[in-house]
Amino acid sequence: MHDFRTFAPCTLLAPVPAVMVSCACPKLDARPNIITIAWAGTVNSDPPMVSISVRRNRYSHAMIRESGEFVVNLVDEARCKAVDFCGVRSGKDVDKWAHCGLTPMPALGLDNAPAIAECPAYLACKVRQVLELGSHDMFVGEVVGVQVRGDLFDADGSLHLERAGLVAYNHGVYQRTADVLGFFGYSVARPEVLARRMKQYQG
Ligand SMILES: Cc1cc2nc3c(=O)[nH]c(=O)nc-3n(C[C@H](O)[C@H](O)[C@H](O)COP(=O)(O)O)c2cc1C
Repeated sequence: MHDFRTFAPCTLLAPVPAVMVSCACPKLDARPNIITIAWAGTVNSDPPMVSISVRRNRYSHAMIRESGEFVVNLVDEARCKAVDFCGVRSGKDVDKWAHCGLTPMPALGLDNAPAIAECPAYLACKVRQVLELGSHDMFVGEVVGVQVRGDLFDADGSLHLERAGLVAYNHGVYQRTADVLGFFGYSVARPEVLARRMKQYQG
């Protein structure tokens, strides 16, 4: 038996994705912004829906609430410093796009919120529900547009997101997700399938 220690009840779910959420709201006359979010999740597949939980005091909160839109940008290692910066400085005080050298581009299916052109993939979302949970409001967004960088596809059209070098957030630290340990169903795959697929992931 391990020596387990008791923790006060808390959100020790880990690892979670660290994503950059971009938003804009011309009605509020606020500059388009980027907020780092670790409390993000997949919550439904049909229709495709994701959630982000945002504290009410964030500059981004009113923009997302008012515009009803946000973009979840997946983050690679080259963007890791930008992820941190967008999570420790407020758009109230600084233009995070300019500071981090990030470029807004139109997001499929949205009128206001831009996607981040430097990120490997994005999910454009329309807010369908807002759940006031306590410290955070959870925006449940329907994914209305998705784009993924072209070099992450093989010639046969299959997507290899594992090659994007995405970043995970693990109880206060950013970590690489680069190494593939297995694939969906690998524990029961036939030996020849296992060997072929794993060879593919090991480059
Ligand atoms: C790794 C990381 C994860 C974060 N996750 C969240 C989150 O899920 N929800 C949230 O409200 N704030 C989160 N924050 C804090 C906000 O990103 C931070 O307060 C930011 O400065 C708010 O930006 P804004 O005022 O421009 O909206 C996180 C920060 C970091 C560094």
